[in-house]
Amino acid sequence: EKGGYDTFMAKEIHEQPQAVADTLRGRIDESGQIVLDEVRMSDQDFRDIDKVFIVACGTSYHAGLVTKYAIEHWTRIPCEVELASEFRYRDPVLDRSTLVVAISQSGETMDTLMAVRHAKDQKARVLSISNTVGSTIPRESDAVLYTRAGIEVAVASTKAFLTQLAACYLVGLHLAQVRGIKYADEVSAILDELVAAPGKIAKVIENLDPVREMARECAANGDRVLFIGRHVGYPVALEGALKLKELAYLHAEGFAAGELKHGPISLIETGTPVIAIVPSPRGRSLLHDKIISNIQEVKARGARVIAVCEEGDKITAVHADHVIETPASPTLLAPLLTAVPLQEFAAELATALGRDIDQPRNLAKSVTVE
Ligand code: M6R
Repeated sequence: EKGGYDTFMAKEIHEQPQAVADTLRGRIDESGQIVLDEVRMSDQDFRDIDKVFIVACGTSYHAGLVTKYAIEHWTRIPCEVELASEFRYRDPVLDRSTLVVAISQSGETMDTLMAVRHAKDQKARVLSISNTVGSTIPRESDAVLYTRAGIEVAVASTKAFLTQLAACYLVGLHLAQVRGIKYADEVSAILDELVAAPGKIAKVIENLDPVREMARECAANGDRVLFIGRHVGYPVALEGALKLKELAYLHAEGFAAGELKHGPISLIETGTPVIAIVPSPRGRSLLHDKIISNIQEVKARGARVIAVCEEGDKITAVHADHVIETPASPTLLAPLLTAVPLQEFAAELATALGRDIDQPRNLAKSVTVE
């Protein structure tokens, strides 16, 4: 049942190209239009939206954070992302023209379900993104877009996360398409890139040996790992840290790289491992320059830097101690690639420490209590 892999998590990491391809299948027509007929929301419904709120927990929340960057850029609709457990206990400003997107792999997470009810009480329209057909959150939502990751057995979410990203990108691009053509060229180029993503994810998976080696080294030498990123690299840093906490029971922390000098940099000691998620050096080179400065800042204080960067990024190779290369991709779609080595890093480090990879202590696959 583990398909020849030692753990379900390993199997699920390797299933990611297929899971993302399955999630995209049939949802982009030949003319490059996104068809979300099953969602049960008309184009007019999508046009009426003037604000998006994304609610979720854990890894699904990180998918939501990435989506904010994409939705606001592609559609110019304000988008907020909030932990479901916070959203439901405050008084968010919602109305009929607010779209609340609830992301939940299991479709049963109690906090997310309560956030959905909270939103519906205030007449917001709720679209859920879930991997579990017929589960409670989709049943209580006005509309649903299913990811097609297949059953995810390991407690640590991997393929569900990547398919959530794919589904969220589809929603964002669909919103952009139905609302006008200001970014038509960009949207169609992004769609081509999205379709190409499964092949690139497969390439990342083929090249994980150096990541495993770095993870074993960290297991032998350190008791904590810091992750830094900017823009969509920031939620990826949070996700890398969550995977490591969850699996290795190690202190791991993700930071927005710009925040380092506002406090966290004092954590750096000689040899502290820092994993930096580096954006493409093309296009948004300002972001790239900024993260290079952050790498220099932590290195000057003794950190050992592992950079996840685009292949051929010579500048990063000069500054970091180790690089993990991922194929070129538009910045907004990069999390589909950069998250993958961090999954493997966490799994390998946890294995080296003798942890139970598929069933970490104290955790359940589906959190149905508040
Ligand atoms: O089923 P959900 O997507 O609602 O689950 C949310 C979180 O409990 C889940 O993503 C959790 O953080 C994962 N175990 C992380 O790997």
